[in-house]
Amino acid sequence: MRRYWHPVGYSSELTGTGQTKRVRILGEELVLARTGSGALLLVQERCPHRGASLLYGFVEGTNLRCAYHGWLYNQAGECIERPFESEKTNRIYKKMIKSYPTRECGGLIFAYLGPAADKPAFPNWDILIRQDGVRHFEVQDDLACNWLQIQENAVDVTHTYYLHSKYFERLGLNDGSGFGKSFKRFGFQRFDWGIDMSLLQRYCRRICQTSS
Ligand code: FES
Repeated sequence: MRRYWHPVGYSSELTGTGQTKRVRILGEELVLARTGSGALLLVQERCPHRGASLLYGFVEGTNLRCAYHGWLYNQAGECIERPFESEKTNRIYKKMIKSYPTRECGGLIFAYLGPAADKPAFPNWDILIRQDGVRHFEVQDDLACNWLQIQENAVDVTHTYYLHSKYFERLGLNDGSGFGKSFKRFGFQRFDWGIDMSLLQRYCRRICQTSS
């Protein structure tokens, strides 16, 4: 999972210089900050000095200063200033905190949390870079589970009839999804790297339509 770019936020969440946001991903507590240049900085949340949260840090230029005693960190995760420390100890500490590269594209903020040598090219998906339409985001609450669990559930096609349709019925809501049509049969479109979900969804829809 660390060999991929992951979405960690929306551009609209960090519109102004100095804004920060807590990010929990792949078991890590991180802080994302909009710096003065409009760039982004993604570092571990806890300052290694006394454990203060960098969520409350002050952005200075392209750096983030801890709000507790003022240690200053750059985008590479180096501590470049330690106020009130002796001259001898106040030198640049290489890679003192974890930091990760980010990329902003199509209104989303992505991060890469893997080894630098294995960093893949950024996926320029058409939905992110096309300019000939309207891009619409639906922001939902965080789900308290691993991303893979959501994908695994998507392959479990028969859950849609009861969970998405019958449950709506019980709530007295109108289900416009088409999931209320029962399955006569279902299958999977395999390819070299697993299952093609887009084909699977089209296939299921067709089955639903032909069974009606
Ligand atoms: S806890 Fe961050 S500088 Fe002291």
